[in-house]
Amino acid sequence: TPAPVVVKREDVITSDPFNNVTDHIFEKIGTNLHKRPDHPLGIIKSVIESYFDEKYGKDVFTSYDDLYPVVSTYANFDSVLVPPDHVSRSQNDTYYVDNDTVLRCHTSAHQLEMLKEGARKFLVTGDVYRRDSIDATHFPVFHQMEGFRVFEPQEWEEAGKESVDLAAEELKDCLEGLARHLFGDVEMRWVDAYFPFTEPSFELEIFFKGEWLEVLGCGVTEMKILEEAGLGDKRAWAFGLGLERLAMVLFDIPDIRLFWSDDKRFSKQFKEGMFKAGGVDMQKFKPYSKYPPCLKDVSFWLPKEGDTFTENNLCEVVRDVAGSLVEEVKLIDEFTNPKKGLTSNCYRIVYRSMERSLTDDEINALQEKVREDMVSKLGVELR
Ligand code: PHE
Repeated sequence: TPAPVVVKREDVITSDPFNNVTDHIFEKIGTNLHKRPDHPLGIIKSVIESYFDEKYGKDVFTSYDDLYPVVSTYANFDSVLVPPDHVSRSQNDTYYVDNDTVLRCHTSAHQLEMLKEGARKFLVTGDVYRRDSIDATHFPVFHQMEGFRVFEPQEWEEAGKESVDLAAEELKDCLEGLARHLFGDVEMRWVDAYFPFTEPSFELEIFFKGEWLEVLGCGVTEMKILEEAGLGDKRAWAFGLGLERLAMVLFDIPDIRLFWSDDKRFSKQFKEGMFKAGGVDMQKFKPYSKYPPCLKDVSFWLPKEGDTFTENNLCEVVRDVAGSLVEEVKLIDEFTNPKKGLTSNCYRIVYRSMERSLTDDEINALQEKVREDMVSKLGVELR
């Protein structure tokens, strides 16, 4: 599925009652940071792709990096066996274009489609979208890479193993090699995990700069997915990883919003081919001085009924008003008045620009708009 050249606003922000895509999100679609060779995300992507070329032979794994991020709920959830009542399906967690269409929340949305198109060993890189809280490591758009490998019956017969064991062993061997390719000679451990689309499932953690860090999720693909693709006699593994997370630790990038920055002081520091495993002998990101933050607190009573107020909804309101000028939204106080049966929250909003100093006037205006929208969209009562 080649990506349309232009993404039209009316195709993504619809009048459907399910629609919860904001302009701030729409503007990110099609940016394709992962396709820029000199961008840290593009650099990590190509380092991983070259690992697969080295390990399995050139182009044995086919790379896809321009699959359209607007997908059906079937592709995003059902095709990978996400149960009907799973939280990730809620409008609080996922961006819906309409009842049957979402902005993909993981690259796993493409597994079944690619299998049906005949792909057997492939990597899919793309932008994924999740409604989430706001801080230095969370942004509603980020990038994932998915890996998928199908095994033929003769492969486990020749190895004299159960198919699931062969797949799990080869998966771990592949990903331990990938972790060394990225992080150098590090300690690693496998942790049992759960994903609806794999069984068994694992997470790989590495010990880097004094702490255990989760780097990816993976597992042996549920047979139901292969059967759906007409591959019921085969076995497969899959993995998924977040490129921002890897790039932040490998290059010492302190804030996830920097990936979206046009500031030359950021972009100048990255060049195709600069990467060295573990960052040894590699120039890391040199932070330039940050502009000062501007803090605003807002206290309010939660609505007595309904679920219009959630932290994710608040973050969306703030992001829709302030875009990437918002650095963090955090709960700093909460109490319940038993007599009134009401709960009060106080949130601190940290505004900061990556490229300039903010003025009091502009932040006061933004904060005023945030307060109005909190009342009209979230039903809170300001204190
Ligand atoms: N899709 C999973 C996530 O977003 C990652 C994953 C991919 C896990 C493939 C297992 C297999 O967290």
